[in-house]
Amino acid sequence: MDPERLAGPKRFIGGSPESQYPMDDSTVIVTGSSKGIGRALAERFATEGANVVTNSRDEARATAVAEELLDAGGTAVGIGADMSDRAEVQALVDGAVEEFGSLDIMVNNAGNTVIGPALEMEPEDWQRVIDVNLTGVFFGMQAAGQQMAAQGTGGQIVNISSMIGEQGFAQRAPYCASKAGVNNLTRVFAVELAEHDVHVNALAPGFVRTDITEQTQDAAGYTDEDVRKRAPLGRFGTTEEIANCVEFLAGGDHYLTGEVLRADGGWMANAWGPDE
Ligand SMILES: NC(=O)c1ccc[n+]([C@@H]2O[C@H](COP(=O)([O-])OP(=O)(O)OC[C@H]3O[C@@H](n4cnc5c(N)ncnc54)[C@H](OP(=O)(O)O)[C@@H]3O)[C@@H](O)[C@H]2O)c1
Repeated sequence: MDPERLAGPKRFIGGSPESQYPMDDSTVIVTGSSKGIGRALAERFATEGANVVTNSRDEARATAVAEELLDAGGTAVGIGADMSDRAEVQALVDGAVEEFGSLDIMVNNAGNTVIGPALEMEPEDWQRVIDVNLTGVFFGMQAAGQQMAAQGTGGQIVNISSMIGEQGFAQRAPYCASKAGVNNLTRVFAVELAEHDVHVNALAPGFVRTDITEQTQDAAGYTDEDVRKRAPLGRFGTTEEIANCVEFLAGGDHYLTGEVLRADGGWMANAWGPDE
């Protein structure tokens, strides 16, 4: 996180102190924030002055990130919880409220993948991805939505989907299915939670350089050059750029709910594949 930014004048999401959701009054949970996109999101929210709850399956990894945010001047606590376990997700939300008194923003970011042909996919590999990426997001929205509805002060839920929730990407059957499911679950929760002034949106990134892309790239059989050619912006996205988009959605100073916003460097807008 950027201590200088934290030390400067308080920034308000939406650019004004009258914003409905000033970040320095907000408590945010970022699931799966031990590394990658989630970690960048936790840093961003801490920089904006929010109370940040970091999370991982492993309590020590969640706590290590929270301690780094504290050292840099932020407000944070780490809570271990497996997002595929409903009781642990409930304990995560309860722990955030116990620590900071409310839950205002829930970012369902935790995710995994498995690479392999659909015809040979083992049931346990299918289930492992669906359990975290789809059921975990359902549990996260359910527990956070119940808390926000009970508080009666509105809220923001942002689900991290993927551009390939809208495309058939070979070797990624459970991942594509899970993210397509997240997109439509986002719409269902947006409709049901609107009466509580809880906005529910999704951000669908394209390729961003993190452990998940590093570890799966060879197995999936694409090169950096493929990504550069296919994405009109000609490069991978950065975790900072993803944080910019999530910050906007989580700020709540907008009329968006039930929306799936793509941050993919123009990939999905581009009708043509890479040049031969
Ligand atoms: N990178 C990309 O190009 C890209 C593109 C589109 C969408 N996304 C999405 O962005 C999200 C983050 O991906 P990333 O690239 O940052 O991946 P990453 O670097 O592999 O990080 C994944 C995070 O999820 C956590 N996690 C995994 N399973 C969990 C579980 N059962 N319960 C709680 N936490 C769990 C991991 O923590 P522990 O291992 O410490 O538990 C880690 O913090 C995912 O939903 C992914 O699908 C990524």
